[in-house]
Amino acid sequence: MKQRVEVWAPATVANMNVGFDALGCALSTPGERMILNRTAHQGEVLIRSIHGAELDANSERNVASIAAKSLLQSLGDPCGLELELFKSILPGSGIGSSAASAAAAVVGVNELLNAGLSPEELIPFALDGESNASGARHADNVAPALLGGLVICPPEGPPIAIPPLEDWCLVVLHPHVPIKTSDARAVLPEHVALQDAAAQAAWFATFVAACHSGNGKAAAHALEDLLVGPHRSILIPYYDEVRKLAFSHGARAGGISGSGPSTFWVALDSSDAGRIERALSGFMQRNSVPCSVHISAISGRGAHSIS
Ligand code: HSE
Repeated sequence: MKQRVEVWAPATVANMNVGFDALGCALSTPGERMILNRTAHQGEVLIRSIHGAELDANSERNVASIAAKSLLQSLGDPCGLELELFKSILPGSGIGSSAASAAAAVVGVNELLNAGLSPEELIPFALDGESNASGARHADNVAPALLGGLVICPPEGPPIAIPPLEDWCLVVLHPHVPIKTSDARAVLPEHVALQDAAAQAAWFATFVAACHSGNGKAAAHALEDLLVGPHRSILIPYYDEVRKLAFSHGARAGGISGSGPSTFWVALDSSDAGRIERALSGFMQRNSVPCSVHISAISGRGAHSIS
């Protein structure tokens, strides 16, 4: 019987311009760790420690403990748990901080109790935790955090994995100016023009077709954001300047990651990705905006045990 497991979970980019609340991918970096310890207090889930971020350690409100408790309960509360969180994906970053916590927690419980649930089966339990942070129950971060790769979250039914683009190098710029998902949703219109909705659906379909044919260039070309980005870009520090700079240094596409403030920029080789990374870091530094910049591939692996 395992007493302790350690889990890694990836950051994720949701929406990806074409699939608002319906598309996401797992990043190879950054990611974060969680340790789950078994205790004798059946059904009790406590947070032992949180490193790297100021987060609520009350287990009734913490994303990780809520997700862990939901799964533990469905497995009959055979034990209790103490969680240690090592946050390297900052809350409010737009790269799936709460989804990573929720995914790590359910993968950890599954592993600790040898429950044998598939990543797909873990999604509802992770969502019980994640929705507590985001205020909405959409799986566009949680599903790729659990499954890895590129994932479509249809309005009904299970998530659909699509072939990840192996030639994509993503540059993710995270300005350290937290944005709450609820605030980023509040700026969105309730209604959109039929013409825009139709064009957006066509771009999403084109993107998926390009992924299936392994054409990273065509997939990047399809990443038009007609419905969401134009309303949210005002929330992102220097969005227009960053976009211009990324494109002039080799980006083929890009936009807002999830609800921001992070943005993602698609390069088709690592030397372009390096040029974009240096240009964006330098620009943010000159404008005194603290930030992190990551160069990442789409990770084929979701949250998993590293014990
Ligand atoms: N899709 C969500 C949004 C963010 O853009 O508001 C991530 O779940």
